[in-house]
Amino acid sequence: MRKTVTVFGATGTAGSACVEELIRQDVFDVQVLARKPGQAEKTSTGAVQPDEAKQKRYDDWKARGVGVRSVDATDHAELIEALDGTDYLVSCVSYYATESQYPLIWAAKEAGVERFVPSEFGFIYEMEQYWPTPTVHRTYARQKAFIRRMIELAGLDFTIVPAGLWPEYYMLEPVCVMGDGTQKFSWSTGSDAGRIITHVLAHPASRNAVCPVAATAYCSWNELLEIRETLLGRKVERNYMNAAQWKEAYAQQPPGLMKLVLGIGVAATECPEGLPLWAHWNRSFLPEFKGTPLEELFPAYIEPFVNATREALIAAGEIPA
Ligand SMILES: NC(=O)c1ccc[n+]([C@@H]2O[C@H](COP(=O)([O-])OP(=O)(O)OC[C@H]3O[C@@H](n4cnc5c(N)ncnc54)[C@H](OP(=O)(O)O)[C@@H]3O)[C@@H](O)[C@H]2O)c1
Repeated sequence: MRKTVTVFGATGTAGSACVEELIRQDVFDVQVLARKPGQAEKTSTGAVQPDEAKQKRYDDWKARGVGVRSVDATDHAELIEALDGTDYLVSCVSYYATESQYPLIWAAKEAGVERFVPSEFGFIYEMEQYWPTPTVHRTYARQKAFIRRMIELAGLDFTIVPAGLWPEYYMLEPVCVMGDGTQKFSWSTGSDAGRIITHVLAHPASRNAVCPVAATAYCSWNELLEIRETLLGRKVERNYMNAAQWKEAYAQQPPGLMKLVLGIGVAATECPEGLPLWAHWNRSFLPEFKGTPLEELFPAYIEPFVNATREALIAAGEIPA
């Protein structure tokens, strides 16, 4: 019998890519939870989708066989009802709404959900939570690791999908390289991170497992930037920064998106040898999965994202014009 997958945070970057891939893959029955308007929108970039745009998406998904269940996501009774019949619950809520998953865990347990995939898609937070330097990012890492414990405590199965760095967030020039640029990192764009979730979920080795993927590429910063330079036809400005330099930059930066990114750099460069925060699980378990080629991503997605981010950071006073 086909399992039913329900996606929470479905209209976001990772969530919408996940729903599209579920439809395309046609292995699971698909549902989404549509939050009733009224709750504060907390998105990773700060950009908010109007309700009409979300409704349009729901209508399109409905027309393609997706079940859309409207719910007050802060009300446990409504959540339990909305999750009735769900086998696997995939949460793609934004970074800043991490805490919205607590009522979801309780409701999933009560509704008899088999497995919970929490919204992770970054580093292996299980390890990062113990890193020594307190940053705004480590607080999220610790909360995400705590949420995984809550899922276990509730008696639910889990699948954890660390996806490494979303390259679109780290390409603003001068690019701040995490380390000397030679070490291999896991790279997953938000869209590829969303796409790979369904493939991980369909694999039997993902039950009660941490599956750290590199959905787009597994390569060094230097290799990635070399591809970007070839595509741009010019040098990409960059600074190679060690842990002490990341910490110094973090300390100097006022609160905001930039500080968060700097906190992620602190975590990456504080990473002790032998305890990596990322890996390439899909190379062994999902060899048929193809990430979007970087040659396509840079011009079509990453460069426009970088330009929009630069404008937003200047407008917010986080970086000079
Ligand atoms: N590794 C990296 O470099 C990196 C970069 C970015 C993000 N991430 C991670 O990827 C995950 C998904 O991020 P994303 O950028 O795809 O998210 P996003 O697009 O910013 O937002 C996802 C969705 O969260 C839901 N949401 C917003 N406010 C909410 C609230 N108050 N309560 C409950 N739900 C709310 C909305 O969906 P609905 O209205 O449909 O419910 C929204 O569309 C996060 O865990 C984030 O930490 C990692």
